[in-house]
Amino acid sequence: YPIYAQQNYANPRALNGKIACANCHLAGKEIDVRMPHDVLADTIFKAQIDVPCKYEKRRQLIADGSKAALNIGAIAIMPEGWKLAPKDRLPKVLKKQMKGLSWSPYSKEYPNIVVAGPVPGSIYERMVLPILAPDPNTQKDANFGKLTMYFGGNRGRGQVYPEGNQSNNNQFFAKKDGKISAIDGLKVTIEGTDGSTVTQEVLAGGQIVVEVGEQVVKDDPLTTNPNVGGFGQAEKEMMLQDMNRVWAYCALATSIFVAQLTFVLKKKQFEKVQLAEGF
Ligand code: HEM
Repeated sequence: YPIYAQQNYANPRALNGKIACANCHLAGKEIDVRMPHDVLADTIFKAQIDVPCKYEKRRQLIADGSKAALNIGAIAIMPEGWKLAPKDRLPKVLKKQMKGLSWSPYSKEYPNIVVAGPVPGSIYERMVLPILAPDPNTQKDANFGKLTMYFGGNRGRGQVYPEGNQSNNNQFFAKKDGKISAIDGLKVTIEGTDGSTVTQEVLAGGQIVVEVGEQVVKDDPLTTNPNVGGFGQAEKEMMLQDMNRVWAYCALATSIFVAQLTFVLKKKQFEKVQLAEGF
């Protein structure tokens, strides 16, 4: 859950680019992010985060060992000064597209990082995030120019809890070489070649794939892998455009055009003079 990241990581993006969610959501699955290439200062625009999965059909193992639908969540890491669009400035169209999805700032320290979820994947497969671009003329922490935003999107349950223990959404493996000597419910006992035994418990819902009497090697799977979800990251570049730069470029382009045109006209005039003088 995003709250696990908020409680355990002051800054959710590590220096190597890994977003905190990936520490517990070990399986990878693609996400797709769309947003404009350029925006003007102090405007509201939309980032669209798609977290695709077959939500209608696919069901996952939940903590008590039964099956349920998948939920999704997301995180967006924006540069300093950028933030979630305030409710009173949200355009109606955008509000409708959000389908009631609520985003919240990651922490007091990082209002430029926002999280959402868990919410049902069947409704929010396409998560819409309204962003307010800063105004560098009035905000010291923002600059015009090119910048990068980082996104993370997740569907399904994680493999590790904040305390470090595994969730039941994991595949379990043999702890040593030997023979399966007993299977009692979720407890699998392996008898090693030296006669010592180890009893491993697979967690609720685990589907055991070994039989009593079977030989196993260390790290052979004891259960199937129940995980159907995964976490994905994406990076997008965008430009915070300064209108003065656009005007300056237009002025430059126009002046070059006029200069070129006058050169051509001058050449034509000179050619006429040459013709008249009979060169
Ligand atoms: C569950 C998203 C960070 C561990 C979930 C679920 C979502 C989610 C949407 C619900 C899945 C479902 O019910 O189908 C995220 C996002 C994160 C994040 C977007 C980052 C911003 C973390 C972190 C940890 C973690 C840092 C571990 C410290 C788990 C676990 C579950 C879970 C163990 C399953 C809980 C249970 O059902 O018992 N997460 N998560 N998540 N998450 Fe995360």
